[in-house]
Amino acid sequence: MFYPEEVIEEVRQRNDIVNVISTYVKLKKTGANYMGLCPFHSEKSPSFSVSGNKQMYHCFGCGVSGNVYTFVMEYENFTFPEAVKYLAEKAGITLPETEYSSEAKEQADFRNQLLEINKEAAKYFYVQLMSPQGKGALEYLQGRELTKETIVKFGLGYSNKYSNDLYQYLRNKGYKDSVLMQSGLISQDEKQGAYDKFWNRVMYPIMDANSKVIGFGGRVMGDGKPKYLNSPETKVFDKSRNLYGLHLARTARGRTMILCEGYMDVIAMHQAGFSNAVASLGTAFTGLQANLLKRYADEALLLYDSDEAGIKAVLRAIPILKDAGLITKVVKLAPYKDPDEFIKAMGKDEFQKRLDEAMNSFYFEIEVLEKDYDFNDPEQKTRFFNEMAKKLLVFTEDIERNNYIEAMARKYSITYENLRKLVHKYGITMPVTQASSIIERRQKTKKKEDGIQESQKLLLTWLIEEVSLFDKIQGILSPEDFREEPYHKVAQMLFTQYKEEGEVKPAKIINSFSDKEEQNEAASLFHSNLKENMSPKEKEKAWNETVIRIKKESLDYQNRHATDILELQRIIKEQAMLQKLHISLQDGAR
Ligand code: UTP
Ligand code: MN
Repeated sequence: MFYPEEVIEEVRQRNDIVNVISTYVKLKKTGANYMGLCPFHSEKSPSFSVSGNKQMYHCFGCGVSGNVYTFVMEYENFTFPEAVKYLAEKAGITLPETEYSSEAKEQADFRNQLLEINKEAAKYFYVQLMSPQGKGALEYLQGRELTKETIVKFGLGYSNKYSNDLYQYLRNKGYKDSVLMQSGLISQDEKQGAYDKFWNRVMYPIMDANSKVIGFGGRVMGDGKPKYLNSPETKVFDKSRNLYGLHLARTARGRTMILCEGYMDVIAMHQAGFSNAVASLGTAFTGLQANLLKRYADEALLLYDSDEAGIKAVLRAIPILKDAGLITKVVKLAPYKDPDEFIKAMGKDEFQKRLDEAMNSFYFEIEVLEKDYDFNDPEQKTRFFNEMAKKLLVFTEDIERNNYIEAMARKYSITYENLRKLVHKYGITMPVTQASSIIERRQKTKKKEDGIQESQKLLLTWLIEEVSLFDKIQGILSPEDFREEPYHKVAQMLFTQYKEEGEVKPAKIINSFSDKEEQNEAASLFHSNLKENMSPKEKEKAWNETVIRIKKESLDYQNRHATDILELQRIIKEQAMLQKLHISLQDGAR
């Protein structure tokens, strides 16, 4: 950790979560909390709740939870130190410089140097393109109908024919070999010494969402191989969590993103006015990239090449995009190969038409599946329906699934009842592991929340909502009764806060978890669905049931694991006492 805990806590307290989130999400006051549309998944009615009291947020739709730090980390794709800096600045707090550990500081310096080197290189390539030796490259780009404006906008450049002049240039700027060799731009071997990776290519700088150059793609002019050479991954270039063109597309109007395969496709689309186009970076599309898209869009249009490889890539990308909560559609460009070719041949109006006709991704998947079967052969036709039935299981909501069953039945002339039965059959017989990955994951998380953990969550939420309840469980429940992580650690910190300060700060606890998943899980412990408007009697009953349930489970566990007789006797005594336990919630009493 870069900053001392007090500083982190002060920055958090000085950034009211309702204020901060309001700058990103439209919030409406409802009761004690604020509600809005969740920025992390797609929804039409608000289930994203922000609590000023708890200084936390929680989405009842997709389950994300956290404090003001996790919010900006998730939304802005910040690392934790970046989030601290950002929020400190917002609150006008000056952060202590000296608190960097020397190792952390070195890391940060190193990253900054790599970013500077990439920026210098981009400038250098651009200057080359605009000078006499770049004439051929400029002609190549113009031959591909790129305007001067587009070339500037994307910062295109040219790496010339000398084998090490970028290296010399960067050395003269004062960068050391030790850093340059890690930049992805320079290589070395014993024979040649240091030399440039890119040589006689048109250069496409790759930027992150904040317009920082993090790497390059370099294209041969003509038919050489490989067609594109890309920077290798470096400390600043992670291909799985960046998208080409995103720094421009993120500011496009509307909540739709176009996802395509090639640098040139993105550029051609932007030039034609489709400024919401992005591409993956010469590697397969990932879940991290889908989450990145989800931040700026609710709908993704897939525009991959219309060849076999493109279709395969589309089929791979669909579940990833859907998992991230994006409405996913597929655009067909046939008979043209890719967006670049299509726009050149047909113009932007025709292109827009194709976008408007984008196909529901499930229909697309079935259309591809259909090609493998000969419907004149009854056996093959049967197999097709069986495969389709299995696929229909991705829809976990009954209404949605039924709507699709209905649509598919109509399209392929089978009765609704027959298809529904078939789907139902697979729904029952298929082991969870074989069913779609989505179902699998949903069921897993659900199971985890079942039972005792649900009770523990309820109790923790209850305790932070009503601190006086701590006194009611004194001598009965302790953090040790919460065995599994993160329940145990969270309970421990909460109980300590109350003991030492007489109040609790749940939002503070989140930051003692370093991993994003853990933070989310820890935060979710404070967001159990407490029933509202319970009568005092109902409340007392629920409270007692919850406490007893947790204690009973804990004692049962201890009983199973007790090693000596004295311990066992204590446990049995406590078990007997638990039978008679009743906690009164009337004031003063116990
Ligand atoms: P394409 O060949 O479709 O790219 O490959 P493109 O951008 O449309 O290229 P041209 O200039 O119009 O011919 C799709 C993407 O795959 C990666 C690049 O990211 C490219 O944009 N790729 C392709 C490579 O990394 N290396 C290659 O040799 C080819
Ligand atoms: Mn192309």
